Amino acid sequence: MSGIYDDPWAYELACSFRDVAAEVDVLLGWCAELGARPASVLELAAGPAEHAREFARRGLAATALDLNPAMCAYAARAGARIEVVQDDMTRFDLGRRFDLVVTMLDSTSHLMTLDAFVAHLRRVAAHLSPGGLYVVEMSHPRDRLGDDPSVSTGWTVERGGVRASVRWGEPSDRLDPVTQIADDHVTMTITDGDGTRVLRDVVPYRFWTATELDAAIRLADGLGVAARYGDFGTGEDAVALTAPEAWRMITILRRA
Ligand SMILES: C[S@@+](CC[C@H](N)C(=O)[O-])C[C@H]1O[C@@H](n2cnc3c(N)ncnc32)[C@H](O)[C@@H]1O
Repeated sequence: MSGIYDDPWAYELACSFRDVAAEVDVLLGWCAELGARPASVLELAAGPAEHAREFARRGLAATALDLNPAMCAYAARAGARIEVVQDDMTRFDLGRRFDLVVTMLDSTSHLMTLDAFVAHLRRVAAHLSPGGLYVVEMSHPRDRLGDDPSVSTGWTVERGGVRASVRWGEPSDRLDPVTQIADDHVTMTITDGDGTRVLRDVVPYRFWTATELDAAIRLADGLGVAARYGDFGTGEDAVALTAPEAWRMITILRRA
């Protein structure tokens, strides 16, 4: 079955609610606050590699890695000069190190077990320069463990005369209480001058808590927590992970 990750153009359109340039500003701001000035960056589970492409526009040597061949092909021809590698974020071995590694937009929800998360972190540590930083953006645990858990979210985007409404997760989607995995039903309705098409997919999602992340970091060895945030923002605009308005779980790890 062809899914939303097999249609990188549609996936990128669905994610165009983000301001990628502003997020990269913040990522580089966090690096500066931690005394780092990265010259090279590796984006993991990069999909269309929007962040890697933005880093490249700013002069960093950027590499994007993803498992999906369609995403890799799209990222490679999307404009900015980046290196693209098709590989698994739990097994890759690129034979060199990077000053910064990033994994954006909850892509670690595709790591289904603690073993997979630990393997992923070990691969990251092996690819970081001494003192190098790893920024991992995940959804906030409040989404699932708060007073009002949400399993479904919807939004609308418009770009270049194309309008899309996206529903990620259905109210009937259930998180398995033992495995912490849900099959998220995704529907994207795309309308342009030629008509409307509907893209449907089921995307397996693994929910990670903050304490499980801590356990994975400790088991992986070689990485320590340098900072945690609840949204994109630096200095006065920084949002603590514990703040009521926090809606992301962003962790910055430093290679020991
Ligand atoms: C939600 S998309 C996020 C893409 C990108 N990080 C972004 O911010 O737009 C998740 C991506 O993870 C990729 N992926 C899933 N499992 C993977 C794995 N084991 N190794 C590498 N990439 C993986 C998928 O192919 C997909 O492109």
